[in-house]
Amino acid sequence: MAKTATQDRKSSHLSICSKKNVEFREKRTGFDDIDFMHCALPELDLDKIDVSCSIFGKKLSAPFLIESITGGSAEAGKINRSLAEAAQQAGVAMGLGSQRAMMENASLINTYRVRDVAPDIFLLGNIGIAQLLEYDAKRIQEALEQVEADALFIHMNALQEAIQPEGNRNFEKCISSIEKLTSQLKLPVIAKETGAGISKEVALSLKNAGVKGIDAAGAGGTSWGAVELLRNPGAHESFWEWGIPTALSIVEVASVCNLPLIASGGVRSGIDAAKAIALGADYAGAALPFLKSAEKGSKGVAEELAKWKEQLKICMFLSGSKNLASLVNSQLLITGKTAELFKLRGISTEGFANRREHSRAIL
Ligand SMILES: Cc1cc2nc3c(=O)[nH]c(=O)nc-3n(C[C@H](O)[C@H](O)[C@H](O)COP(=O)(O)O)c2cc1C
Repeated sequence: MAKTATQDRKSSHLSICSKKNVEFREKRTGFDDIDFMHCALPELDLDKIDVSCSIFGKKLSAPFLIESITGGSAEAGKINRSLAEAAQQAGVAMGLGSQRAMMENASLINTYRVRDVAPDIFLLGNIGIAQLLEYDAKRIQEALEQVEADALFIHMNALQEAIQPEGNRNFEKCISSIEKLTSQLKLPVIAKETGAGISKEVALSLKNAGVKGIDAAGAGGTSWGAVELLRNPGAHESFWEWGIPTALSIVEVASVCNLPLIASGGVRSGIDAAKAIALGADYAGAALPFLKSAEKGSKGVAEELAKWKEQLKICMFLSGSKNLASLVNSQLLITGKTAELFKLRGISTEGFANRREHSRAIL
């Protein structure tokens, strides 16, 4: 079968993201504006700090997720296998890239299949919001079964579609389509952005539409305004910097729903992950850093994950947090632009700075 437009587009995304600078140039995630209140006497053994947790009933040795990246070509298949092997070894979760290519061309299914190298990981299938109008729940369920996924990521990419020459410009009826799918699909649906973030208002609509988790995927990391501009130099340059910074998006989503929350978009270390969790996320994910470390195969990805895990543990040690539940109550000093944005949206930075006042007496 001839290559489809979807395959071509996915291949050029992969090559642009691997070779060019596709990150936000000025807008930051907000993590730089956030410091942990240092605890000089943690009363903890660093080696006993526990970062294990679970996600929809599956164990994770650390609260990390390799975000959806690819599928649909031989190269993509190789990357998926490296990512999956590392996820299995590190005990973390992983998302497959959009399954649209394999739904349009069944000969590509193998480029998404990773269960032979990653039998135990929490694995998410992936489909774009625009494809919900095209495929019914039965067809999506079949695509998930073909890759043995545990859950579905629906990605919301309005920014990317709006500036792509061939993009889908009609986002009417998305909420009712999600509602229909969540009521029919046998697996949990998690809604994700792709780098422009989710506000509290959208998070509430998603929750009401029956999603079982949210991935904030905010601004500050990979910019899809940038990727599409580099793919098509005629696109609008002014959207390179569009989106809700990740730190703000995490707090917005966490403030209105208690669904499992993944933080991604510019998470670049275990320290960023610790800050994301302290802001209210349950898990931290990233795409670009793992795509880059996959150049060294699964070993490169596993090394990156091990580094993140150690950094997370050290942050917990230095903030006096013995486990992930206590990290969520650690004290954060939020300043600069991020503090300004929090104030604009009615979020108290003093609240974050002065948490755990009662338990401090125990320290
Ligand atoms: C090369 C590449 C391909 C991506 N493809 C998908 C995709 O198919 N589906 C999806 O939901 N997100 C996709 N994403 C978005 C990521 O999952 C993530 O939301 C976003 O890149 C922000 O994370 P980051 O700053 O760590 O890269 C892709 C990201 C990259 C870098």
